Amino acid sequence: MKIQTKHEQETFVFGENLSRSLQNGDVVCITGDLGTGKTALTKGIAKGLGILDWITSPTFTVVNEYEGDKRLFHFDVYRVHDEEELFHIGFLDYFEREGVFVIEWADLIEALIPKRAIWLQIEKDLEKGLDVRYITVRAMHQSERGQTLVDSLCARYQQEGNRE
Ligand SMILES: Nc1ncnc2c1ncn2[C@@H]1O[C@H](COP(=O)(O)OP(=O)(O)OP(=O)(O)O)[C@@H](O)[C@H]1O
Ligand SMILES: [Mg+2]
Repeated sequence: MKIQTKHEQETFVFGENLSRSLQNGDVVCITGDLGTGKTALTKGIAKGLGILDWITSPTFTVVNEYEGDKRLFHFDVYRVHDEEELFHIGFLDYFEREGVFVIEWADLIEALIPKRAIWLQIEKDLEKGLDVRYITVRAMHQSERGQTLVDSLCARYQQEGNRE
């Protein structure tokens, strides 16, 4: 599934819509170049999870934790993406906890990502305009939960006639 957003606000709303399908334990991986909108999308997810705090990119802290209707663990592994190092500092232990997990730059540490994750890839389309983004949604590893999430998101967007 691939959708287009034409403005930061639409990427935010996409995140908010996605959050309606999220349950504790779900893992959302967001990939895309610098400044494509990974944090903007995460802010939408946070709003949808009932989190009122201001979301900032955890670039230097690796993870920020927020309490809402559901707990959110927001990772950014851009600066620390050595799989072995992350493994040793207990990165995998987070996924035993109760909450929703969002990981920016997850492609840098693919081996550590739970198989149930869904993957959102954000791309710019400069020919279409500075603010245009394409968001591609995928489940991998034949993950049943991942596929269920993708399907429920597709259904949401088909209803709105917003899908490509
Ligand atoms: N359609 C769009 N969706 C999301 N952001 C957009 C869009 N159009 C323009 N922007 C702008 O792109 C920037 C995205 O910034 P953001 O911090 O969310 O990116 P990021 O992918 O998290 O970057 P980084 O790799 O540094 O973490 C913002 O300045 C935002 O206003
Ligand atoms: Mg970011």
